[in-house]
Amino acid sequence: MTRHVAVIGHPVAHSRSPLIHGYWIAEHGIDGTYDRRDVPPEEIAGFLANFAAGDLVGANVTVPHKEAAFAAAVERDPVAEALGAVNTLWLEEGRLYGANTDVHGFLANLDAAAPEWDRALDEAVVLGAGGAARAIVYGLIGRGIGRVTVANRTLSRAEALRAQFGDKVLPVDWRDLAGTLPSARLLVNTTSLGMKGQPPLDIDLSLLSPDAVVTDAVYVPLETPLLRAARARGLAAVDGLGMLLHQAVPGFARWFGVAPQVTPALRALAVEDLRV
Ligand code: ATR
Repeated sequence: MTRHVAVIGHPVAHSRSPLIHGYWIAEHGIDGTYDRRDVPPEEIAGFLANFAAGDLVGANVTVPHKEAAFAAAVERDPVAEALGAVNTLWLEEGRLYGANTDVHGFLANLDAAAPEWDRALDEAVVLGAGGAARAIVYGLIGRGIGRVTVANRTLSRAEALRAQFGDKVLPVDWRDLAGTLPSARLLVNTTSLGMKGQPPLDIDLSLLSPDAVVTDAVYVPLETPLLRAARARGLAAVDGLGMLLHQAVPGFARWFGVAPQVTPALRALAVEDLRV
């Protein structure tokens, strides 16, 4: 029987997930499909409540439905429990299960692109305090980091991350960012600054240590002004496309029973797609 999977969001037309999963379905000769389902907020609770009666065996969930998917799943993996957000759903004996693979995506991308990144990683600076930052802070603490400084325009959101994850999280005011950079070995942007149509992220990277790694959750454009500035300084710079590709792996393995690879060929296809 053909296995149907979809990404559920609102809007969802921009999602690159069909490209990624479609590539793997073809590569592995799987009898399956992966498409987009635009479900408006007023319909999401009903859609998920009736999931088992529909045609899908699983789904990815994107903005703004990750919390609704969390609420609808009867069982969730520990990462989803910690984050209060589910981005991957599947059915087991008619019951809806949920996981969050964003943390895996973030860590696996750095492991692949900058394998030394977590050696002697005492301190990271995370810019932003939204959903992406929450996943990344959780992942860094899981890797045993000593301290995560969270700089956010709205300080109270950074303080909320400390309240949730404990005193390894150090909230700082966005305007005090410069003081946090010299001791950081990893700088992560999770804000929308640098995204196409948004102002660039304007920070002085000369304050960073020469062995620091810089990574950006933004991947449109692929080379953000932040990453370009990092490369110009000779710092390791890791783009956000890899996080997107790697977060897709656990879902595909779950739905189709094959563990797919993030290969240069897949990455090249995604890069091409981002260009158009
Ligand atoms: P996501 O779930 O992708 O993390 P989000 O919850 O909307 O998205 O968070 C966006 C982040 O970008 C927030 O940290 C936001 O700062 P605020 O919490 O102060 O809103 C940050 N951000 C967006 N635009 C910004 C700007 N012009 N300057 C600084 N930070 C900005």
